Amino acid sequence: MKQALIIAIDGPSGVGKSTLSRRLAKKLNYVNIDTGAMYRSVALAAHRAGIAPDDEASLSALCLRIEIRFVRQDEMERVLLNGEDVSEAIRTPEISLLSSRVSAHPVVRRALVELQRELGRNGGVVLEGRDIGTVVFPGADVKFFLAASAAERGRRRWLELRDKGLDVDLERTIEEVEARDAADTQRTHAPLRQAQDAVCIDTTHLDIDQVLERMLEVVAQSRLQD
Ligand code: DC
Repeated sequence: MKQALIIAIDGPSGVGKSTLSRRLAKKLNYVNIDTGAMYRSVALAAHRAGIAPDDEASLSALCLRIEIRFVRQDEMERVLLNGEDVSEAIRTPEISLLSSRVSAHPVVRRALVELQRELGRNGGVVLEGRDIGTVVFPGADVKFFLAASAAERGRRRWLELRDKGLDVDLERTIEEVEARDAADTQRTHAPLRQAQDAVCIDTTHLDIDQVLERMLEVVAQSRLQD
């Protein structure tokens, strides 16, 4: 039976990737890597440095001088940007939109894909993002593609932001999800798409536990096959 698998989870924003990736990694005792948090960290660093999201040369230089790390603290995963905990700062609607723009640049993608491959190299990892099964680890042992309607994903994002005390409008949140979908699927470099050999799960009418159960079944089957 194969141990230390590389598991890829891709899909659009608000589909439940982060929660499912975290839960799946915990169940399997694997390391969870939220690659969206890495693009968000670059966006935050660019924003703070006053770098425009279309200034490719400055973004390239920025990627060389920042350090992104994941650490576990009291059962919570934290994202450190140059040693500073930015786990909350990278989740604002403004940084969400900026991260979508900076992630369209090949120089940014190259730097982060390299780091992601390094982090996942030895297996025993669940990586979640947009291009894990297609670009980062095309040979991943298990690939999932999660899907859900834009209205449902917008509603979930809205609830999440409201829970954090942010005063946001539902319609506007759905529009933002749709705008990011369009940007993420239509960009030239590594656009969001389902890998041919990915298992697609539509989460619109499923709760987290139901999806997790399905994922664990797929992982168990894949282990038996190898
Ligand atoms: O998953 P997220 O919402 O935290 O991702 C933030 C942005 O980063 C999103 O607009 C798309 C981009 N992203 C990407 O291009 N490739 C990835 N592997 C992960 C995220």
